[in-house]
Amino acid sequence: MKKHFMLTHAITADPAFEFAADVRAGLDRPGQKELLSKYLYDDVGSALFEVISVLPEYGLTRADERLLQRHAGDIVERVPAPVMVAELGSGSGKKTRWILEACCRRQHTSYYPIEISRTALAMCARELGDIDSISIVGFEREYLDGLLEVAARRKHGEHLLVLFLGSTIGNFDRPAGVKFLRQVRRILQAGDSLLLGTDLEKPIPQLLNAYRDSLGVTSAFNLNLLARINRELDGDFDLSQFEHTVRFNPEARSVEMHLRSKHNQTVTIPKAELSVTLLEDETIWTESSHKYSASEITEIARQTGFRCDGQWMDREWPFAENLLIAE
Ligand code: AVI
Repeated sequence: MKKHFMLTHAITADPAFEFAADVRAGLDRPGQKELLSKYLYDDVGSALFEVISVLPEYGLTRADERLLQRHAGDIVERVPAPVMVAELGSGSGKKTRWILEACCRRQHTSYYPIEISRTALAMCARELGDIDSISIVGFEREYLDGLLEVAARRKHGEHLLVLFLGSTIGNFDRPAGVKFLRQVRRILQAGDSLLLGTDLEKPIPQLLNAYRDSLGVTSAFNLNLLARINRELDGDFDLSQFEHTVRFNPEARSVEMHLRSKHNQTVTIPKAELSVTLLEDETIWTESSHKYSASEITEIARQTGFRCDGQWMDREWPFAENLLIAE
């Protein structure tokens, strides 16, 4: 079967303008300063995240991969054929191989990775392009915009399997995660499927160590957000004056990453038309990673118009793949 890869480019107005506006909104406010975690993933941040995913302290990606490798056959068996596969945030695509191979063993399969990073889409095409009977069409889009376009390509009788792996849902706060799943559900038809990867609750020291590894890769990943502001918005952050810190938030059941200002300091960011003063020990909140219980996922599925058809859990690193069917 002939294979092909196509890329549908971004149609956003001006990403630099949006970045500047979000940086201004997050830093020029009373109370907790904040930068959106989606901006951690420029080319440098995405490469650092690939390294995080193989660190001994960070078991999440390995658990996700183990489950997909072991259970892809069972998971795909529960999804009716013919199926088209869309993935929200494919990254390098490495962990998707097993699901796609299982689909392609049944029939020729169209795979639509949806990503804001063009580099990740290119990596994904390289990583998965050798699978027999696959066509890959990458969408350089935000998740929901991309999913709407993919759903519009559905042929009569075709099912849509959406992959949202790696516990990216954990980077939304709980209400935003529920809202997002409802939005996904609205794009789907009854009987379509969503495979949702979720990191599960585990002892707090183990969780904290996963986000403050001894090599300092997660620290570099976090600090790169300031470096990115320097590169793209002409900011003058002195990275040595900030420290990567993590804390567990017991109410939210999340691990938070922050950047702590070591001194009182003022930073200017000309392209965001901003000058911001940080006090000693004040932090910029950059990411939250929420942790779930397996029963909570079943309940969230119910609240968002899905039924949980199956859960596969890893024993080494508590993590679950959840197969949700649109009702
Ligand atoms: C992508 N996401 C699920 C990761 C997480 O664990 O929240 C991002 C990450 N941040 C620090 N380490 C990994």
